[in-house]
Amino acid sequence: MPATTVLPTDQPPLLHTAVDQAVKLLESGEVVALPTETVYGLAADALNPAAVAKIFEAKERPAFDPLIVHLPDKKHLDTVAEVPPEVQKLVIQLIERFWPGPLTLVLPKKPCVPGLVTAGLPSVAVRVSANPIFKRVAQALGRPLAAPSANRFGSISPTSASAVAAELDGRIPLILDGGACMHGLESTIIKVEAASPKNLITILRPGPITAEDLKVYGKVMRVTRSVVDEAAEAPGQLASHYAPRTPLRLLAKPSDFTPEPGKRYALLSYRGEEKDGFLNLADWLQVMILSPGKGKLPEAAVRFFYALRELDKLGADEIIAEPMHEHGMGAAMMDKLRRAAVKAGQPSSLPESRSATGTVAPPSE
Ligand code: TXA
Ligand code: MG
Repeated sequence: MPATTVLPTDQPPLLHTAVDQAVKLLESGEVVALPTETVYGLAADALNPAAVAKIFEAKERPAFDPLIVHLPDKKHLDTVAEVPPEVQKLVIQLIERFWPGPLTLVLPKKPCVPGLVTAGLPSVAVRVSANPIFKRVAQALGRPLAAPSANRFGSISPTSASAVAAELDGRIPLILDGGACMHGLESTIIKVEAASPKNLITILRPGPITAEDLKVYGKVMRVTRSVVDEAAEAPGQLASHYAPRTPLRLLAKPSDFTPEPGKRYALLSYRGEEKDGFLNLADWLQVMILSPGKGKLPEAAVRFFYALRELDKLGADEIIAEPMHEHGMGAAMMDKLRRAAVKAGQPSSLPESRSATGTVAPPSE
């Protein structure tokens, strides 16, 4: 494959050319990296198995990990998914409220969706992206797009065109540069079930749409199984995901860490406040602050994958991560930090999320 082209989209004529080129490639069964409001996705025509196979090849993604299908518009839902009558009202409420946006629904699939997209599962994960560039491409193509995050399998999701290039340069023909992603974390994935007195919404992957946002629509559950359980219900949610190459340790409190002589450490700091007690623990190679001075979770989320990527470049012996609040987008970031720590064989000094509430004292907002 020749070198990857990166096309800007920040002026109307450039946007027009970029969208045209993306659509042409997608129509011809190629893959294209596109910005979404969460992270960059590697898109292909979801109904063309040969095109979908190229996603797996470029990412070196194992075939057991299913893809999210992105619709041009919410009206297209019933082209790829069956909505069981008992949850129809709930599904309509959710998509009216959250689509286009970072909420992915897992529903029974229609036969037209290739088994490769769903890793042979009878269900399909589906969402509508709110990113204007993604929307233009999807609407001009008029077909559903399968799009996982545009990183190599097991690596950190990209939130900029340059991060996509760092992962997939030379493996894909085109990246549309839509600037930094608005949310910075992957979509929330849920499944829905009819139950009495309230319908059940199970969060399979925490993300920008939080448990707090969802609870008006039903009883909200988090998947309770351990992050080390390889048979997780969202098949891509293995501990091996979302991890930098550098080992990462997630701390509950500053006193849980004593630097070892001769080792080089980097710090992922929540808000970079001296009084939180982490800044002076070691002679850090580098400190990346997620929410400078403020401790605002949405701001931290936007910088989260970027900060991990930067720290991963240092060649440190270990990345030390401060804890964050478990509510709102903090739940998704803490989930990812726990997985990264498990991958590094460094289970955090924090208990798992459900029991963590109340036992950890992250800084007040
Ligand atoms: O924000 C996002 O969701 C981004 C952007 C590009 O849309 N996409 C994304 O895709 O994060 P990916 O492939 O990195 O993660 C998709 C995950 C899979 O790993 C799997 O856990 C879950 O979605 N998934 C897909 N189909 C599923 C299904 N039928 N049942 C349960 N989980 C499913
Ligand atoms: Mg991914």
